[in-house]
Amino acid sequence: EAAEKGGYPHFVLKEINEQPDALRRAMLGRIRDGQLHLPELEKLRKEGLFDRVQRIIIVACGTSYHAGLLAKYVIEQWARIPVEAITASEFRYCNPIVGPETLCIAVTQSGETADTLVGIRQAREQGAPVIAVTNIVASAITRLSDAVLYLQAGPEIGVVATKTFVTSVVVLYLLGLYLGEQRKRIRSEQMSAFLAALEHLPDQVQHILDQAAGPDDVIAPLARRMASVSNMMFIGRGVGYPTALEGALKLKEISYIHAEGFPAGELKHGSIALLDPDTPLLGIATSSHIYEKVITNIQEVRARDARAIVVATEGDERVKQFADDVLYVPATLEAFSPLLAIIPLQLFSYHVAVARGCNVDQPRNLAKSVTVE
Ligand code: G6P
Repeated sequence: EAAEKGGYPHFVLKEINEQPDALRRAMLGRIRDGQLHLPELEKLRKEGLFDRVQRIIIVACGTSYHAGLLAKYVIEQWARIPVEAITASEFRYCNPIVGPETLCIAVTQSGETADTLVGIRQAREQGAPVIAVTNIVASAITRLSDAVLYLQAGPEIGVVATKTFVTSVVVLYLLGLYLGEQRKRIRSEQMSAFLAALEHLPDQVQHILDQAAGPDDVIAPLARRMASVSNMMFIGRGVGYPTALEGALKLKEISYIHAEGFPAGELKHGSIALLDPDTPLLGIATSSHIYEKVITNIQEVRARDARAIVVATEGDERVKQFADDVLYVPATLEAFSPLLAIIPLQLFSYHVAVARGCNVDQPRNLAKSVTVE
Protein backbone atom coordinates (compact mmCIF):
# COMPACT_ATOMS: atom_id res chain seq x y z
CA GLU A 1 0.00 0.00 0.00
CA ALA A 2 2.91 2.36 0.75
CA ALA A 3 4.00 1.98 -2.88
CA GLU A 4 0.50 2.74 -4.11
CA LYS A 5 0.57 5.96 -2.11
CA GLY A 6 3.62 7.03 -4.08
CA GLY A 7 5.51 8.30 -1.04
CA TYR A 8 2.57 10.28 0.35
CA PRO A 9 1.22 9.44 3.82
CA HIS A 10 -2.36 9.28 2.52
CA PHE A 11 -4.17 8.68 -0.76
CA VAL A 12 -6.03 11.96 -0.31
CA LEU A 13 -2.79 13.96 -0.27
CA LYS A 14 -1.50 12.00 -3.25
CA GLU A 15 -4.68 12.69 -5.17
CA ILE A 16 -4.67 16.39 -4.28
CA ASN A 17 -1.17 16.50 -5.70
CA GLU A 18 -2.19 14.60 -8.81
CA GLN A 19 -4.64 17.32 -9.80
CA PRO A 20 -2.39 19.09 -12.33
CA ASP A 21 -1.98 15.81 -14.23
CA ALA A 22 -5.64 14.90 -13.84
CA LEU A 23 -6.64 18.27 -15.29
CA ARG A 24 -4.24 17.82 -18.21
CA ARG A 25 -5.74 14.40 -18.92
CA ALA A 26 -9.30 15.76 -18.72
CA MET A 27 -8.41 18.30 -21.43
CA LEU A 28 -6.25 15.93 -23.47
CA GLY A 29 -7.42 15.76 -27.07
CA ARG A 30 -10.32 18.05 -26.21
CA ILE A 31 -8.37 21.28 -26.63
CA ARG A 32 -6.22 21.04 -29.75
CA ASP A 33 -4.62 23.88 -31.73
CA GLY A 34 -6.69 26.40 -29.81
CA GLN A 35 -9.94 24.63 -30.68
CA LEU A 36 -12.45 22.62 -28.73
CA HIS A 37 -13.14 19.02 -29.75
CA LEU A 38 -15.79 16.84 -28.12
CA PRO A 39 -16.28 14.00 -30.62
CA GLU A 40 -18.38 12.17 -28.01
CA LEU A 41 -21.16 14.68 -28.73
CA GLU A 42 -21.07 14.41 -32.51
CA LYS A 43 -24.04 12.07 -32.76
CA LEU A 44 -26.25 14.33 -30.62
CA ARG A 45 -25.10 17.37 -32.59
CA LYS A 46 -26.05 15.73 -35.89
CA GLU A 47 -29.47 14.94 -34.44
CA GLY A 48 -29.92 18.68 -33.83
CA LEU A 49 -30.11 18.39 -30.05
CA PHE A 50 -28.00 21.46 -29.37
CA ASP A 51 -30.20 23.66 -31.56
CA ARG A 52 -33.36 22.28 -30.05
CA VAL A 53 -32.58 22.11 -26.33
CA GLN A 54 -34.63 24.55 -24.24
CA ARG A 55 -33.45 23.69 -20.79
CA ILE A 56 -30.69 21.77 -19.02
CA ILE A 57 -31.01 19.86 -15.76
CA ILE A 58 -27.88 18.68 -14.00
CA VAL A 59 -28.52 15.73 -11.69
CA ALA A 60 -25.88 14.75 -9.13
CA CYS A 61 -25.04 14.10 -5.46
CA GLY A 62 -22.41 15.37 -3.03
CA THR A 63 -19.29 16.83 -4.56
CA SER A 64 -20.58 16.11 -8.07
CA TYR A 65 -23.60 18.26 -7.26
CA HIS A 66 -21.26 21.13 -6.40
CA ALA A 67 -19.55 20.68 -9.77
CA GLY A 68 -23.05 20.85 -11.29
CA LEU A 69 -23.83 24.08 -9.43
CA LEU A 70 -20.69 25.66 -10.85
CA ALA A 71 -21.65 24.48 -14.33
CA LYS A 72 -25.02 26.18 -13.97
CA TYR A 73 -23.34 29.56 -13.60
CA VAL A 74 -21.08 29.19 -16.60
CA ILE A 75 -23.40 27.35 -19.02
CA GLU A 76 -26.06 30.01 -18.54
CA GLN A 77 -23.50 32.72 -19.26
CA TRP A 78 -21.86 31.02 -22.21
CA ALA A 79 -24.82 29.35 -23.94
CA ARG A 80 -27.76 31.39 -22.59
CA ILE A 81 -29.70 28.18 -21.94
CA PRO A 82 -31.48 27.99 -18.56
CA VAL A 83 -29.80 25.45 -16.30
CA GLU A 84 -30.96 23.89 -13.06
CA ALA A 85 -28.66 21.81 -10.87
CA ILE A 86 -30.59 19.51 -8.59
CA THR A 87 -29.54 16.95 -6.06
CA ALA A 88 -30.51 13.50 -7.36
CA SER A 89 -32.35 12.37 -4.23
CA GLU A 90 -34.74 15.31 -4.71
CA PHE A 91 -34.96 15.06 -8.48
CA ARG A 92 -36.15 11.46 -8.42
CA TYR A 93 -39.13 12.25 -6.20
CA CYS A 94 -40.19 15.68 -7.47
CA ASN A 95 -42.03 14.58 -10.62
CA PRO A 96 -39.79 16.86 -12.69
CA ILE A 97 -40.96 18.50 -15.92
CA VAL A 98 -38.66 17.00 -18.54
CA GLY A 99 -38.99 15.96 -22.17
CA PRO A 100 -37.10 15.73 -25.46
CA GLU A 101 -36.14 19.43 -25.23
CA THR A 102 -34.65 19.01 -21.75
CA LEU A 103 -31.03 17.93 -21.77
CA CYS A 104 -30.20 16.02 -18.58
CA ILE A 105 -26.59 15.90 -17.51
CA ALA A 106 -25.70 13.24 -14.94
CA VAL A 107 -22.54 13.99 -13.00
CA THR A 108 -21.24 11.01 -11.04
CA GLN A 109 -17.57 10.18 -10.67
CA SER A 110 -18.33 6.55 -9.79
CA GLY A 111 -21.13 6.18 -12.31
CA GLU A 112 -22.94 4.03 -9.75
CA THR A 113 -24.75 6.38 -7.36
CA ALA A 114 -28.24 4.92 -6.91
CA ASP A 115 -30.19 8.18 -6.68
CA THR A 116 -28.52 9.59 -9.79
CA LEU A 117 -29.16 6.39 -11.77
CA VAL A 118 -32.84 6.24 -10.81
CA GLY A 119 -33.41 9.95 -11.49
CA ILE A 120 -31.80 9.69 -14.91
CA ARG A 121 -33.72 6.54 -15.79
CA GLN A 122 -36.97 8.38 -15.05
CA ALA A 123 -35.91 11.37 -17.17
CA ARG A 124 -35.10 9.06 -20.07
CA GLU A 125 -38.50 7.44 -19.79
CA GLN A 126 -39.95 10.88 -20.46
CA GLY A 127 -37.81 11.28 -23.56
CA ALA A 128 -35.01 13.45 -22.17
CA PRO A 129 -31.60 13.08 -23.81
CA VAL A 130 -28.82 12.31 -21.31
CA ILE A 131 -25.13 13.13 -21.22
CA ALA A 132 -23.11 11.41 -18.49
CA VAL A 133 -20.00 12.88 -16.91
CA THR A 134 -18.15 10.10 -15.09
CA ASN A 135 -14.70 8.77 -14.29
CA ILE A 136 -15.46 5.07 -14.56
CA VAL A 137 -15.47 3.43 -17.95
CA ALA A 138 -18.55 1.28 -18.62
CA SER A 139 -20.12 2.18 -15.25
CA ALA A 140 -23.90 1.89 -14.85
CA ILE A 141 -24.59 5.52 -15.81
CA THR A 142 -22.95 5.04 -19.20
CA ARG A 143 -25.60 2.47 -20.11
CA LEU A 144 -28.35 5.02 -19.40
CA SER A 145 -26.82 7.83 -21.43
CA ASP A 146 -26.84 9.00 -25.05
CA ALA A 147 -23.28 10.29 -24.74
CA VAL A 148 -20.52 9.99 -22.15
CA LEU A 149 -17.81 12.49 -21.29
CA TYR A 150 -15.15 10.73 -19.25
CA LEU A 151 -13.17 12.63 -16.63
CA GLN A 152 -9.97 10.75 -17.47
CA ALA A 153 -8.83 11.61 -13.93
CA GLY A 154 -7.28 8.23 -13.13
CA PRO A 155 -8.27 6.15 -10.09
CA GLU A 156 -9.34 7.98 -6.94
CA ILE A 157 -8.93 5.83 -3.81
CA GLY A 158 -9.58 8.39 -1.07
CA VAL A 159 -13.27 8.47 -0.22
CA VAL A 160 -13.47 12.24 -0.54
CA ALA A 161 -13.56 13.56 -4.06
CA THR A 162 -10.63 15.81 -4.97
CA LYS A 163 -9.29 15.21 -8.45
CA THR A 164 -12.66 13.96 -9.64
CA PHE A 165 -14.14 17.29 -8.49
CA VAL A 166 -11.77 19.50 -10.48
CA THR A 167 -11.99 17.26 -13.53
CA SER A 168 -15.82 17.17 -13.33
CA VAL A 169 -15.79 20.96 -13.30
CA VAL A 170 -13.43 21.17 -16.27
CA VAL A 171 -15.40 18.63 -18.32
CA LEU A 172 -18.67 20.44 -17.56
CA TYR A 173 -17.02 23.73 -18.50
CA LEU A 174 -15.85 22.23 -21.80
CA LEU A 175 -19.41 21.11 -22.39
CA GLY A 176 -20.60 24.66 -21.56
CA LEU A 177 -18.14 26.15 -24.05
CA TYR A 178 -19.26 23.61 -26.64
CA LEU A 179 -22.90 24.58 -26.12
CA GLY A 180 -21.95 28.27 -26.34
CA GLU A 181 -20.21 27.57 -29.63
CA GLN A 182 -23.13 25.54 -31.00
CA ARG A 183 -25.58 28.29 -30.04
CA LYS A 184 -23.26 30.89 -31.58
CA ARG A 185 -22.99 32.77 -28.32
CA ILE A 186 -19.20 32.59 -28.05
CA ARG A 187 -17.06 34.35 -30.63
CA SER A 188 -13.93 32.60 -31.79
CA GLU A 189 -11.57 35.07 -30.09
CA GLN A 190 -13.47 34.63 -26.81
CA MET A 191 -13.21 30.88 -27.24
CA SER A 192 -9.45 31.12 -27.75
CA ALA A 193 -9.11 33.15 -24.55
CA PHE A 194 -11.20 30.63 -22.57
CA LEU A 195 -9.26 27.65 -23.89
CA ALA A 196 -5.90 29.31 -23.27
CA ALA A 197 -6.92 30.07 -19.67
CA LEU A 198 -8.06 26.47 -19.19
CA GLU A 199 -4.81 25.09 -20.54
CA HIS A 200 -2.89 27.28 -18.11
CA LEU A 201 -4.76 25.90 -15.06
CA PRO A 202 -2.67 22.73 -14.47
CA ASP A 203 0.50 24.82 -14.08
CA GLN A 204 -1.33 27.23 -11.80
CA VAL A 205 -2.57 24.37 -9.61
CA GLN A 206 1.00 23.05 -9.54
CA HIS A 207 2.19 26.47 -8.38
CA ILE A 208 -0.23 26.35 -5.41
CA LEU A 209 0.86 22.79 -4.57
CA ASP A 210 4.56 23.66 -4.81
CA GLN A 211 4.11 26.59 -2.46
CA ALA A 212 2.16 24.42 -0.03
CA ALA A 213 4.97 21.84 -0.07
CA GLY A 214 7.67 24.45 0.47
CA PRO A 215 9.10 26.23 3.50
CA ASP A 216 6.76 29.22 3.15
CA ASP A 217 3.56 27.17 3.34
CA VAL A 218 0.83 28.98 5.25
CA ILE A 219 -1.95 26.39 4.85
CA ALA A 220 -0.74 23.58 7.14
CA PRO A 221 0.22 25.94 10.03
CA LEU A 222 -3.17 27.65 9.74
CA ALA A 223 -4.91 24.26 9.70
CA ARG A 224 -3.10 23.21 12.87
CA ARG A 225 -4.21 26.41 14.59
CA MET A 226 -7.82 25.79 13.51
CA ALA A 227 -7.85 22.09 14.36
CA SER A 228 -9.72 22.54 17.63
CA VAL A 229 -12.61 24.68 16.41
CA SER A 230 -16.12 23.16 16.48
CA ASN A 231 -17.75 25.18 13.72
CA MET A 232 -16.72 27.00 10.61
CA MET A 233 -18.54 29.03 7.96
CA PHE A 234 -17.64 29.29 4.29
CA ILE A 235 -18.99 32.09 2.11
CA GLY A 236 -18.73 33.14 -1.51
CA ARG A 237 -20.75 34.74 -4.28
CA GLY A 238 -21.28 33.70 -7.87
CA VAL A 239 -18.94 30.83 -8.66
CA GLY A 240 -17.44 31.42 -5.22
CA TYR A 241 -20.66 30.10 -3.69
CA PRO A 242 -20.44 26.47 -4.89
CA THR A 243 -16.73 26.70 -4.05
CA ALA A 244 -17.70 27.60 -0.49
CA LEU A 245 -20.13 24.65 -0.38
CA GLU A 246 -17.43 22.27 -1.57
CA GLY A 247 -14.86 23.70 0.86
CA ALA A 248 -17.31 23.19 3.75
CA LEU A 249 -18.16 19.65 2.60
CA LYS A 250 -14.47 18.69 2.44
CA LEU A 251 -13.94 19.91 6.00
CA LYS A 252 -17.01 18.06 7.31
CA GLU A 253 -16.14 14.85 5.51
CA ILE A 254 -12.57 14.41 6.65
CA SER A 255 -12.19 16.40 9.86
CA TYR A 256 -15.73 16.01 11.29
CA ILE A 257 -15.81 19.74 12.06
CA HIS A 258 -19.24 21.21 11.52
CA ALA A 259 -18.99 23.50 8.52
CA GLU A 260 -21.57 25.25 6.37
CA GLY A 261 -21.31 27.05 3.08
CA PHE A 262 -23.50 30.07 2.31
CA PRO A 263 -24.00 32.61 -0.43
CA ALA A 264 -22.18 35.56 1.14
CA GLY A 265 -25.15 37.89 0.72
CA GLU A 266 -27.49 35.45 2.48
CA LEU A 267 -25.47 35.32 5.68
CA LYS A 268 -27.19 38.30 7.23
CA HIS A 269 -30.59 36.67 6.81
CA GLY A 270 -30.10 34.37 9.75
CA SER A 271 -26.85 32.48 9.84
CA ILE A 272 -24.75 35.45 10.92
CA ALA A 273 -26.29 34.86 14.36
CA LEU A 274 -24.02 31.82 14.68
CA LEU A 275 -20.83 33.81 14.37
CA ASP A 276 -18.63 34.47 17.37
CA PRO A 277 -14.88 34.58 18.07
CA ASP A 278 -14.79 30.76 18.15
CA THR A 279 -16.37 30.31 14.71
CA PRO A 280 -13.92 31.21 11.96
CA LEU A 281 -15.19 32.35 8.61
CA LEU A 282 -13.60 31.41 5.33
CA GLY A 283 -14.43 33.83 2.53
CA ILE A 284 -13.76 33.27 -1.16
CA ALA A 285 -12.70 36.69 -2.42
CA THR A 286 -10.80 35.98 -5.61
CA SER A 287 -11.00 38.62 -8.37
CA SER A 288 -14.53 38.86 -9.74
CA HIS A 289 -17.22 41.32 -10.73
CA ILE A 290 -18.64 41.00 -7.22
CA TYR A 291 -15.37 41.14 -5.30
CA GLU A 292 -16.34 44.33 -3.45
CA LYS A 293 -19.61 42.76 -2.34
CA VAL A 294 -17.80 39.77 -0.86
CA ILE A 295 -15.40 42.09 0.96
CA THR A 296 -18.38 43.96 2.44
CA ASN A 297 -19.79 40.64 3.70
CA ILE A 298 -16.44 39.70 5.24
CA GLN A 299 -16.33 43.05 7.03
CA GLU A 300 -19.81 42.40 8.46
CA VAL A 301 -18.49 39.18 9.91
CA ARG A 302 -15.40 40.72 11.37
CA ALA A 303 -17.59 43.26 13.11
CA ARG A 304 -18.82 40.20 15.13
CA ASP A 305 -15.21 39.46 16.14
CA ALA A 306 -15.15 36.31 14.02
CA ARG A 307 -11.79 35.37 12.58
CA ALA A 308 -11.67 35.76 8.77
CA ILE A 309 -9.59 33.53 6.53
CA VAL A 310 -9.77 34.79 2.95
CA VAL A 311 -8.89 33.09 -0.32
CA ALA A 312 -7.72 35.87 -2.63
CA THR A 313 -5.91 36.45 -5.88
CA GLU A 314 -2.14 36.88 -5.83
CA GLY A 315 -1.25 40.57 -5.90
CA ASP A 316 -4.30 41.62 -3.88
CA GLU A 317 -2.54 43.35 -1.00
CA ARG A 318 -5.61 45.34 0.00
CA VAL A 319 -7.43 42.22 1.16
CA LYS A 320 -5.00 41.87 4.08
CA GLN A 321 -6.74 44.67 5.93
CA PHE A 322 -9.98 42.64 5.90
CA ALA A 323 -8.46 39.27 6.77
CA ASP A 324 -6.70 37.56 9.66
CA ASP A 325 -5.16 35.08 7.21
CA VAL A 326 -4.96 35.16 3.42
CA LEU A 327 -4.56 32.12 1.18
CA TYR A 328 -3.42 33.33 -2.22
CA VAL A 329 -4.11 31.65 -5.56
CA PRO A 330 -2.94 32.74 -9.03
CA ALA A 331 -5.08 34.97 -11.24
CA THR A 332 -7.35 33.41 -13.84
CA LEU A 333 -10.66 34.27 -15.51
CA GLU A 334 -13.47 34.60 -12.98
CA ALA A 335 -15.28 31.49 -14.27
CA PHE A 336 -12.21 29.33 -13.65
CA SER A 337 -11.33 30.73 -10.23
CA PRO A 338 -13.02 27.85 -8.32
CA LEU A 339 -10.54 25.42 -9.87
CA LEU A 340 -7.75 27.27 -8.09
CA ALA A 341 -9.59 28.43 -4.95
CA ILE A 342 -10.59 24.87 -4.06
CA ILE A 343 -6.97 23.67 -3.85
CA PRO A 344 -6.03 25.51 -0.61
CA LEU A 345 -9.41 24.46 0.83
CA GLN A 346 -8.70 20.79 0.10
CA LEU A 347 -5.24 21.11 1.66
CA PHE A 348 -6.67 22.97 4.64
CA SER A 349 -9.23 20.22 5.31
CA TYR A 350 -6.57 17.56 4.89
CA HIS A 351 -4.20 19.16 7.40
CA VAL A 352 -6.98 19.87 9.90
CA ALA A 353 -8.03 16.21 9.69
CA VAL A 354 -4.47 14.95 10.14
CA ALA A 355 -4.00 17.27 13.15
CA ARG A 356 -7.18 15.83 14.66
CA GLY A 357 -6.03 12.28 14.05
CA CYS A 358 -8.89 11.44 11.69
CA ASN A 359 -8.88 8.63 9.16
CA VAL A 360 -8.53 10.88 6.13
CA ASP A 361 -8.63 8.18 3.47
CA GLN A 362 -11.67 6.45 4.88
CA PRO A 363 -13.75 8.81 6.99
CA ARG A 364 -16.33 7.30 9.31
CA ASN A 365 -19.82 6.68 7.90
CA LEU A 366 -18.83 7.50 4.31
CA ALA A 367 -18.49 5.36 1.20
CA LYS A 368 -16.83 6.15 -2.11
CA SER A 369 -20.00 5.40 -3.95
CA VAL A 370 -23.47 5.02 -2.52
CA THR A 371 -25.19 2.29 -4.51
CA VAL A 372 -28.24 2.00 -2.27
CA GLU A 373 -30.86 4.64 -1.66
C1 G6P B 1 -20.53 9.67 -1.91
C2 G6P B 1 -19.08 10.12 -1.80
C3 G6P B 1 -18.95 11.58 -2.21
C4 G6P B 1 -19.53 11.79 -3.59
C5 G6P B 1 -20.97 11.31 -3.67
C6 G6P B 1 -21.47 11.28 -5.10
O1 G6P B 1 -21.30 10.26 -0.93
O2 G6P B 1 -18.62 9.95 -0.48
O3 G6P B 1 -17.57 11.94 -2.23
O4 G6P B 1 -19.45 13.14 -3.94
O5 G6P B 1 -21.09 9.97 -3.20
O6 G6P B 1 -20.73 10.33 -5.80
P1 G6P B 1 -20.69 10.21 -7.35
O7 G6P B 1 -19.90 8.96 -7.63
O8 G6P B 1 -22.11 10.08 -7.83
O9 G6P B 1 -20.02 11.43 -7.88
